[in-house]
Amino acid sequence: MSAHWSQFWQTTKTLNSFSASENAFGYRGELLAFWQQQFSNLGANAQVVDLGTGNGALALAAYRYATQHHLNALVHGVDAAAINPCAVFADEANIVGDLRQIQFHPECSIEAMPFKSGSVDILLSQFALEYAECEPAVAACARVLAPKGRLVAVMHHQASDIAYDCAAGLKVIAAFLYGSNFQHDANQLLSLATSAATAEALSLANQQLLQSVSAIEQQLRNELEQEWFGFVMQSFAPLFININTNHQVRFKALLKQLVATYQRLTDQHRAALNQESIVLWVDAFKQQQLDACYEELVIDKQLFGWVLKVSR
Ligand SMILES: C[S@@+](CC[C@H](N)C(=O)[O-])C[C@H]1O[C@@H](n2cnc3c(N)ncnc32)[C@H](O)[C@@H]1O
Repeated sequence: MSAHWSQFWQTTKTLNSFSASENAFGYRGELLAFWQQQFSNLGANAQVVDLGTGNGALALAAYRYATQHHLNALVHGVDAAAINPCAVFADEANIVGDLRQIQFHPECSIEAMPFKSGSVDILLSQFALEYAECEPAVAACARVLAPKGRLVAVMHHQASDIAYDCAAGLKVIAAFLYGSNFQHDANQLLSLATSAATAEALSLANQQLLQSVSAIEQQLRNELEQEWFGFVMQSFAPLFININTNHQVRFKALLKQLVATYQRLTDQHRAALNQESIVLWVDAFKQQQLDACYEELVIDKQLFGWVLKVSR
């Protein structure tokens, strides 16, 4: 699963995956306050591990909290993807200095995390643990947790706004990639425009492309789907104006990016948990002789996810 995540983390200047704009440089507001509360009983010299860290948003929040409270914590971030947050943020002095204090473990799965048994004081996860296979991941967490160790995971909820947005994105992107003539008609127009095609042939190709885009637009059922449609069209539309040979190359690159977005959304959709499936995670931890409980997490008055809390 990790090639598309590797590409995303290496090429996107965002610390975390689900909010590119105001949260791109780390968690803020109520979500940050939630996490700071979880850090409030960190001991000195605590060993902290952020599971599925991405570009390290949560690891960074933990490191900054520990530093501000003069706790000499050692913060790790593991991810199955080939992450390299320090390279991505190399020119962001305020961030990279702190990222360099975190030990990142790229291409490292939760299931095979390399920490000594009983050595980790707190395992953290924001939208990552649930991407792993439940039983091996739970066994790995149980193995590394210290005698008074804890795990706090914020997990995707099937009824959250994030999940609805994800479903809308999947529907719209699938229509562009797999459920319409968009790719065929766009390729046709781009290649005709860079050959000695007649004005009539060009006009026909243009009309066909407009029709396939309009057929996708007619399938949109709500604001979220309209937003995704706008997002996709915003990147493709400039390619069909003043067309030159570079546009064909650019079109291929944009399609590749869209496929990667589709794959990440597919992972996210599969990872989202309903009540029954969060209970399976709780039971799996209990089977490892750990205490486990869950509740819903509301951020800014909206259902954001599940919180799973585990302790030894
Ligand atoms: C939605 S992103 C979350 C990243 C980050 N925690 C954040 O808040 O933005 C999910 C991450 O989990 C990673 N991941 C998925 N399965 C994993 C596994 N079994 N072990 C380690 N990382 C995994 C993916 O590579 C991806 O970077």
